[in-house]
Amino acid sequence: MKQRGEKISMLTAYDFSMAQILDGAGIDVLLVGDSASNVMAGHETTLPITLDQIIYHAQGVVRGVKRAFVVVDMPFGSYQGNSSVALQSAIRIMKESGGHGVKLEGGAEIKDSIIRILTAGIPVMGHLGLTPQSIYKFGTYNVRAKEETEANKLIEDARILQEIGCFGLVLEKIPAALAQRVAEELTIPVIGIGAGPGVDGQVLVVHDLLGITKEFKPRFLRRYAELHDIMTEAVQHYVADVKSREFPSAEEGY
Ligand code: KIV
Repeated sequence: MKQRGEKISMLTAYDFSMAQILDGAGIDVLLVGDSASNVMAGHETTLPITLDQIIYHAQGVVRGVKRAFVVVDMPFGSYQGNSSVALQSAIRIMKESGGHGVKLEGGAEIKDSIIRILTAGIPVMGHLGLTPQSIYKFGTYNVRAKEETEANKLIEDARILQEIGCFGLVLEKIPAALAQRVAEELTIPVIGIGAGPGVDGQVLVVHDLLGITKEFKPRFLRRYAELHDIMTEAVQHYVADVKSREFPSAEEGY
């Protein structure tokens, strides 16, 4: 798709029903993101989600998909220890979930783990820029790599990830010009979130795109629906119907 100039659409998914809808709507890639920790479990960060939990989410997504490529996030703590731990975690994800590849956050510092996973025949996607598993190192969710030193490290990391065999790369919340430069230099697809239009594809958290989450309003987010309001109205209607004995009708029983 990159070679023929077709932009790649990617969204997160964490369960069977949503995956079925997104796949049916023509999405190219589904990411079982560790953002499930936020939007599904209500945690403040992505750090608490476990390997067992991400596998559970991924199993449902895989069952709901007919054509999309499914990438599964490796949770915090499942690959940073050493390359052997990383390989075991990646194998569990592939074996137990049926996902098609894994995503890890980081560059040179996790190179050995990525190589080990790749040697097992598991496709790996990189993730640079704002890497939420390192939030306590960054201290904020602000734009990354605005300074030259960090931008240069990101470019170097992107080169390394391509060189060792990653099939793609996510760039999160970095200046658009930097993201475009990386996408132009690399031959593997670069998918952006808050990284501007000059990359090879876009990814968003599906709950944000659908307006299920209401408070989260970063500049890069475009809401394509206001499901929070629609769902609230529907449930209010149902509550009122139950209270007023409007639901169920005689026809809605046996
Ligand atoms: O977990 C996630 O949702 C992600 C995307 C933000 C790329 O990693």
